Amino acid sequence: MEKEKFYITTPIYYPSDKLHIGHSYCTVATDTMARYKRLKGYDVMFLTGSDEHGQKIERIAESQGITPKQYTDKVVDTFKELWKKLDISYNKFIRTTDDYHIKSVQKIFKKLYEKGDIYKSEYEGWYCTPCETFFTEHQLIDCKCPDCKREVEKVKEESYFFKLSKYQDKIIEYIESNPEWLQPTTRQNEMLNNFLKPGLEDIAVSRTSFKWGIPVEFDKGHIVYVWIDALSNYITALGYGSDDDTLFKKYWPADIHIVGKEIVRFHSIIWPALLMALDIPIPKKIFGHGWLVINGSKMSKSIGNIVDPFILVDKYGSDAIRYFLLREIAFGQDGNFSNEALIQRINSDLANDLGNLVSRTTGMIEQYFNGNLPSEQKSTEFDNELIKLSKKIVEDFEYKMEKMLFSDALNDIWTLIRRTNKYIDETQPWILYKDNNKKDILANILYNITESIRICSIMIQPFMPNTPKAIWKQFNIKEGKITEWETIKKWGILERTISAKKGEVIFPRIDIKKEIKELEEAMKKAQANTIANQTKNKENYNIQNVDDILIDDFLKIQLKVGEVISSEKVKKSNKLLKNIVKIGDEERVIFSGISQHYSPEEIIGKKVIIVYNLKPRKIMGEYSYGMILAAEDSKGNLSLATIDKLDFESGSEVG
Ligand code: MSP
Repeated sequence: MEKEKFYITTPIYYPSDKLHIGHSYCTVATDTMARYKRLKGYDVMFLTGSDEHGQKIERIAESQGITPKQYTDKVVDTFKELWKKLDISYNKFIRTTDDYHIKSVQKIFKKLYEKGDIYKSEYEGWYCTPCETFFTEHQLIDCKCPDCKREVEKVKEESYFFKLSKYQDKIIEYIESNPEWLQPTTRQNEMLNNFLKPGLEDIAVSRTSFKWGIPVEFDKGHIVYVWIDALSNYITALGYGSDDDTLFKKYWPADIHIVGKEIVRFHSIIWPALLMALDIPIPKKIFGHGWLVINGSKMSKSIGNIVDPFILVDKYGSDAIRYFLLREIAFGQDGNFSNEALIQRINSDLANDLGNLVSRTTGMIEQYFNGNLPSEQKSTEFDNELIKLSKKIVEDFEYKMEKMLFSDALNDIWTLIRRTNKYIDETQPWILYKDNNKKDILANILYNITESIRICSIMIQPFMPNTPKAIWKQFNIKEGKITEWETIKKWGILERTISAKKGEVIFPRIDIKKEIKELEEAMKKAQANTIANQTKNKENYNIQNVDDILIDDFLKIQLKVGEVISSEKVKKSNKLLKNIVKIGDEERVIFSGISQHYSPEEIIGKKVIIVYNLKPRKIMGEYSYGMILAAEDSKGNLSLATIDKLDFESGSEVG
């Protein structure tokens, strides 16, 4: 019988040279779902990739003196390395710079143009470079990007437009009559009330002011603006618009697009409209998950609060990180990340509950039966409750997985794990062991515990690809028939004569105090390294405080031009501003004591002079990487040392 198909996608990622744990969240969740469906017997196509075009990439590459493709090649390698470390089992990785994608996007654009759904006009509006998004005046919040709150640029240029407005009513009707389509439900109201019902405007889908993008085939001065390019990846990856569209015919429409909440708008409005215009069925489901935040802020390089996923995976292993991400945060909602919470989960759920259960059980089988259970076994009054619970958990688990309630599904497995630990305490094998007449009861108890461990270990596979194998090895369980998914529904699949051998502890307990310190240091070092690597003169941090200095001493101070791209008042201080300063291709947090003289709005956009190689200093609990220069007169007035040519490049040396 032909297997049922399941096509699942993550968003394609913007190349970022500093990946953070937030980036892993969506991919880990999608991978878990893909693994679950594979285990259930589906023919799964799991797509991920990179979204490589746009002005931002063009600018970064330019500042590094390399081509945009050279830059994205480098970053894509890091993505792939991280996905490997996290055991991401994607079937295909699409790059928007792949030839087949470029050709198909050109065809899509042309088709929409010929159909009359794309037309040429003039665009006037606001553009947010980091988000690659155009906004109309009324979409801005306090004159800033409504998504990332950064400065936007006014742009006016000839542009092609997509008739998004034409599809507004169809999309409203679709969302209202298919309540399962866009999940969680709160996202439906957001889309309907904030965008669809107030009225959709046609959107600009080409640009002429930069070059790094897919050229419009029939009008070479234009490049396809990033959303048609990016969204189409879900079909071009399957060969849509190419000579071989077998995969497209096989897998489309996608069963689910999993995306972060800030891009739900593009996936639930622009994407279905484009597909409707192309006469292609729309995806079956869209799920908008929440963000991983640190003290309420989205993790981001420019805020300087990133948590390095490489360090975490190297220290604790991919299974622990995957478990934490999906257990700690209810999928669909925002959730806070902290090192403490991570270590506590590892200690309590993985080392104590699961790890102990496994090592206690193998230990008892070894000690009481030399590692081999006899076939004579006799049941006890305590068995039924455990067996009944296992059946109920398995049923609930599948329901929760289908709904992508990952945290609840894991909680269910752990309920069974804890109940199994309780079964040991209830039946007290160590007392039965002393009674020679009760060996059959003892063997039956150890059998039941192992059977429960087997069922739990099969269920945790989508979340933790490595741990089940380590457990099976200790119970001599051969992967195959008795580890197949459907076997979780039947109690008693294991043969009675289990043999077990205590192996390595699957999750060692962590000394939380010591570990937090080490972890913070490793993260700081990684952060400082990025900065130090970009600093040519990094040994020369210690500047002597003397009255007269020699020219050599002065030359030790690296001064550079920085552009303030964001700024905010520090809550508990009446002097400090926390600024994000762009210096060439890097962005640094620099505090300055000028808030009585400059408001954040006044300083944003200014080209200032910064002391680039000042040793990072902790200010109000956070590091400041440099100093912004200002002059102070005898009356206490303060003026920033700025560069008067507005288009002067940030990152330039001053001296
Ligand atoms: N390139 C677009 C997507 C185009 S899809 C046709 C994009 N890329 S992104 O790199 O900025 O984000 C990729 C995914 O990572 C998004 O779903 C985004 O929500 C997610 N995350 C980035 N930071 C995150 C957190 N801190 N927490 C959770 N998810 C986060 O958007």
